[in-house]
Formats: sequence, structure tokens, C-alpha cells
Amino acid sequence: EQAEAKALYDAYEFTAKFYNYIMLNTEQGRPALDYLRSRGMNDRIIETFQLGYSPNMRDKLAEILGKRGFDLALMEKGGLLSHREGSGYYDKFRDRIMFPIHDQKGRIIAFGGRAMGDIQPKYMNSPESPLFNKSRNLYNFHQARPQIRKSRTVVLLEGYVDAIKVWEAGIQNGVASMGTALTREHALLLRRNADEALLCYDGDPAGQNAAFKSIELLEKEGFHVKVAWLPGGQDPDEFITQFGGERFRREIIEGALTSTKFKLQYIRKNFNLTDVDGRFRYIESALKLVAELDAPYQREHYIQELASEFPYAADNLTQQMNGYRQDLL
Ligand code: GTP
Ligand code: MN
Ligand code: MN
Ligand code: MN
Ligand code: MN
Repeated sequence: EQAEAKALYDAYEFTAKFYNYIMLNTEQGRPALDYLRSRGMNDRIIETFQLGYSPNMRDKLAEILGKRGFDLALMEKGGLLSHREGSGYYDKFRDRIMFPIHDQKGRIIAFGGRAMGDIQPKYMNSPESPLFNKSRNLYNFHQARPQIRKSRTVVLLEGYVDAIKVWEAGIQNGVASMGTALTREHALLLRRNADEALLCYDGDPAGQNAAFKSIELLEKEGFHVKVAWLPGGQDPDEFITQFGGERFRREIIEGALTSTKFKLQYIRKNFNLTDVDGRFRYIESALKLVAELDAPYQREHYIQELASEFPYAADNLTQQMNGYRQDLL
């Protein structure tokens, strides 16, 4: 058990170096390197995140791991190789950009592999293993932890590329949940290091839905939650590529909304505010959200916002909201 884990750590470390070497030093790795550069990733990023390329060969990695004395059945269990009766072991990842995934101690425990063309699936991840559990591990946590602890704030992202771009933009407390929903285990792990969580998911409907769910989960664990709102359906990588890291920090990170403000914006889309009845129903939903806030001054804050936006007196809105509060108790 202990020996198996040790062998897997060694194999992943070796494999990451192999993928990185192939990308930087061989002809077949060239398109991968060009691809990364076309997406704005320089040599420093490639080095910091140990990016690489899995060659488009049947069993090159299998052959090399074998020569190095690794147990190929264990490598299959660890997700690096596949195996078919009569045809031996062959490489699991082929022709993909490889993102090593580290544990808290900085040991590689899995890989994410991105196809360069339109091949589906776009990303392939290592399977869950004794070392890798998607609902416990977060991409870039090992590098981000010092800054998370220092600022007591964690920035939550969806994807590998987002975590990398945000890091390069000077925000070094960002981690990515690798496409899966944030779990309670993630929240507990982060809570030991931070008091504030800043959600910076993709600006598309999927990202907004995910943010809505993450807010509940994180607030339950005692986080103060803010939400960075990305315009035009962009993700952090796309925004930074188009507008630069400076604008990302100033407009997106510093302009993050309180979780309540985000929720109000989020539900608002469902109502036609030019219609009186639509307006009534939006205000009712909004007041129900406000009613859930524990701090009286915060309830007052949002009531005042609604009162300044709509032609209704704050007193009437408060009275209505207090009715909803009674229902909650
Ligand atoms: P890039 O083109 O690389 O920037 O990815 P994206 O921003 O289009 O990725 P997307 O927002 O679709 O997904 C965010 C994250 O979800 C990725 O970084 C992956 O970790 C994960 N993910 C996305 N697609 C897949 C998939 O097809 N399979 C798996 N297993 N994970 C995926
Ligand atoms: Mn087998
Ligand atoms: Mn997405
Ligand atoms: Mn994305
Ligand atoms: Mn992206």
C-alpha cells in the first residue's frame, strides 16, 4: 500500500518530466508548444505549471515506464496506461496538452489532458485513485496556499487555463475545481486557510448556476462569499487574453459583488421588469432573499437599493420583507 503510493508518485513525477521533455525538445512536440504559445503561455508558465505533451504514439510511455522498472499493472491502476488482453499495455493519454495535478504537498497525483483540435472529450482526466479524488483535490492549491493563507482569501475558478492565467495576472491565491462542482470537502479544506471566497467562474449560464450553488455551500461553512461577474459569457482566461491582467484585477476582482447582490442579479433575468406584474414578482423574490440575511443593517442596505430603483417606499418594502422573515422562523 505504502510502497504502491510511493511508486505512483515516482511514476507521475517521471511522466510529467517525460511529457514536458517531449514538448520542449522534440519535433512532434512542436505543435503543442505552438498551441500553448498561441494561448499566451510563455516558458515561465510552462515551467511553473510543468506543462507537457503526451505524444501521439501507441505505447511510448508504457515502454519507457517498463524500462524504468515500474509495475505496469500499477501504472494502469494509476491511470497512465490501459491494457487489453493480448495486446499488452498502451498509453492512456495521446496527443494532448498535459496539466499535472498536485496534492497539497506538491506531489503529482493525476493529470488533465487537453485535446488541441476539436476532438471529444476536450479534456480527459486521470481516473480517481487512492491518491487522486476530484472532490478533495483542487488544481493549483499547493502553489496558491501561501497566498491564500496570507490574504485569508481564496479565488475559485473552473478550469486549468483559468488558474494559470489568473496566476500570471498576479493573483496567486486561485484554485480550480477542474470542471466538477465544488464539494463540502473542498470547502472544509479551504476554510482552514481562508475566511473569504471569491467566485470567479465562467460568465456563461453554467458558470452562474455553479456560482449560485457554491455560495450556499461556502456560506454554510462560514465563508464570506463574493462573486466576480464576467461580462459577455467570457471565462477568466478569455477576459485576460482580451483585456489584460491589470483590467482583470481592477474590474473583475475588485468589482466583485456581494453574494446577495449576485443573487439579485441572477434571479432578475427571469422577470420582465417593464411589466408591472413582472416587477411585483421580482420584488417579492428579491425581498425573500433579503429576508434571509441575519444582519439588520444588511437587510436595510438592500431594501434601500430596491427603494431607489423602484417607485416604492423603503418602509413598505421593509414591512413586506418582515412578513417573509416571519415565515422563515
Ligand atoms: P479551455 O479551452 O482549455 O480554456 O477550456 P474551457 O475554458 O473551454 O473549459 P471549460 O470552461 O469547458 O471547462 C473548465 C474545466 O472543466 C476544464 O479546465 C476541465 O478541468 C473541465 N472540463 C472541461 N471539459 C471537460 C471534459 O470534456 N471532460 C472532463 N473530464 N473535464 C472537462
Ligand atoms: Mn488489465
Ligand atoms: Mn465552462
Ligand atoms: Mn471556461
Ligand atoms: Mn477557457
